[in-house]
Amino acid sequence: MTGVQIYDEGYRRWRASTKHCALFGADMPAEIQPFSFVPFDGMEFVSSLLELPAGGTLVDFGCGRGGPGMWLAARAGASVIGVDSSRVAIDDANARQHDFPGLVSGKFVVADVADTGLPDHSADAVVSIDVLQLVPDPAAMTREIARVLKPGGRVVVTTWEASGAMDKRFPRDVRGLFDGLSDVEMHDRPGWLSRQIAIYEQAIEGDDGSDAAIADLAAEARKQLPYRDDMRRVAVSAVRL
Ligand SMILES: C[S@@+](CC[C@H](N)C(=O)[O-])C[C@H]1O[C@@H](n2cnc3c(N)ncnc32)[C@H](O)[C@@H]1O
Repeated sequence: MTGVQIYDEGYRRWRASTKHCALFGADMPAEIQPFSFVPFDGMEFVSSLLELPAGGTLVDFGCGRGGPGMWLAARAGASVIGVDSSRVAIDDANARQHDFPGLVSGKFVVADVADTGLPDHSADAVVSIDVLQLVPDPAAMTREIARVLKPGGRVVVTTWEASGAMDKRFPRDVRGLFDGLSDVEMHDRPGWLSRQIAIYEQAIEGDDGSDAAIADLAAEARKQLPYRDDMRRVAVSAVRL
């Protein structure tokens, strides 16, 4: 399977799962339904860093089923445009907009985060939750973020920085990927990593073979847990000059 097919299948398995949302979204409003490891207080932290103006437009790079971006935009009284390579996720995101009453508008499109097709300087803010470490060319993604941001617009990207024997696909110098932006700040979030480890342990414990989405998560957990000391959990914020 290609990377896109793997995500499409993962989202289909999630649709059929009774346990997936309960694990990922346990501490947050039910409508967010994240496919990511940022806890609810982390979402509030991301919101405070973004400074998204009311009436503005947030672009969500790798939006998945759209919940985190819609929650952030609704909170600010703003609109969101989400891009993701998974058609299954984008269809779910477009169908879920009525779950976020404060949202001015939402539009979700299938596109690569390195080549979104969005106009230059069209975003008041950009967010990307747990995507950067997955893309083949993360520098192309951050260049695309700089292109679509308006001057003065802020970006917040959550990801992991790897060291040691950690999965070689994970970035080793996250700050260096943001050279084209200014005021770059790395925010260490060890508490997010602790929560991720707890979710991994619950997935392994709950994997009785009856739920394919939980089986996927348990497989990921078995692969990543040995490297827990090699993962630095970060949120990066920056400004486009
Ligand atoms: C861990 S999920 C996070 C989804 C969402 N941000 C959330 O918090 O629920 C990663 C997402 O990145 C998307 N993705 C991975 N590589 C991509 C790429 N090159 N272009 C667009 N989307 C991509 C996947 O389809 C998936 O939806």
